[in-house]
Amino acid sequence: MKDLIDKLENERTLSHTEFKRLLSCEDDYLHERARETGKRFFGNKIFLRGLIEFTNYCKNNCYYCGIRYANKNAERYRLTKEQIMQCCETGYSLGFRTFVLQGGEDGYYTDDILCDIVAKIRAKYPDCAITLSIGEREYESYKRLFDAGADRYLLRHETANDAHYKTLHPDKMSSENRKKCLWDLKKIGYQVGCGFMVGLLGQTLEHIAEDLLFIKELDPEMVGVGPFIPHSSTPVSKEKLGDLHLTLNILAILRLMNPNLLIPSTTALGTIDNDGRELGILVGANVVMPNLSPVGVRKKYFLYDNKICTGEEAAECISCMKRRMENIGYNIVVAKGDYVD
Ligand code: 5AD
Ligand code: FES
Repeated sequence: MKDLIDKLENERTLSHTEFKRLLSCEDDYLHERARETGKRFFGNKIFLRGLIEFTNYCKNNCYYCGIRYANKNAERYRLTKEQIMQCCETGYSLGFRTFVLQGGEDGYYTDDILCDIVAKIRAKYPDCAITLSIGEREYESYKRLFDAGADRYLLRHETANDAHYKTLHPDKMSSENRKKCLWDLKKIGYQVGCGFMVGLLGQTLEHIAEDLLFIKELDPEMVGVGPFIPHSSTPVSKEKLGDLHLTLNILAILRLMNPNLLIPSTTALGTIDNDGRELGILVGANVVMPNLSPVGVRKKYFLYDNKICTGEEAAECISCMKRRMENIGYNIVVAKGDYVD
């Protein structure tokens, strides 16, 4: 394993077969190496992103997702511009310097409406990053939002393998368009985050190796990877949870592939294991994304079952997160946390 890890650190990539071998690594050595690399580049700093889940309406029907259009059990909501501004205000006073506006693909939010919201946040918080995570849109739409002041965009590619992608999404969606969106976003100048779930129906190590090679090619600033967690009102409700150890291996590989990468230790990881977010940090993740959504809507943004942090006020959530990070020797910093090459 040591040879393979050295090679990954030096060449920043591996062959498909080598990635598969490293993904199956059973011992902690891979994790230790990734932790050391993370410490070397970021010290014990952890960046914060405040997640504002502003709409759970979605026109798509991804088979794994709890807010899919066909889920009639989901109670739908939209936040007003005023509510979103209130989330930012609370977040700012708690030390957040990045606001992530995340939502389903909701036709209500036209470019005009979104640009107005983004511009308002941009004007009020010139020292903050504005991240959007609102799915697939046209180039022109991404461009308008960028010009209005958004500077980062999260769009998980979900799986780089087109055949696998087709088994998880209705016909209208394709991995080709998803990837095109990511390339468009990069071209416009956004800091871009892609990513995928671990343990999704039909996923093999082959697929994950393809994901890693796609990530290498795209060269994003951020990569979000978390375990798949079944949602009871979806067609894949009976499937197994994603594997913790495999998720940690992937985070470690990402850290070694790009020491500067922004890697969140996800809420999904914290949901499958009480110490999941800490374990993610200890294999090189360097970002946490506590919820800034109003408490009243948190339980409605259920992408998967048993999601954590849905009862707490923003202030409680952040103090919990600070304590958790301090317990393992890390500190949350008040900073925008831009990608640096
Ligand atoms: N389990 C874990 N993660 C999920 N996501 C969607 N549904 C689930 C699920 N059931 C992830 C997707 C999406 C991100 C916002 O949440 O990867 O891109
Ligand atoms: Fe949200 Fe612990 S981080 S309650």
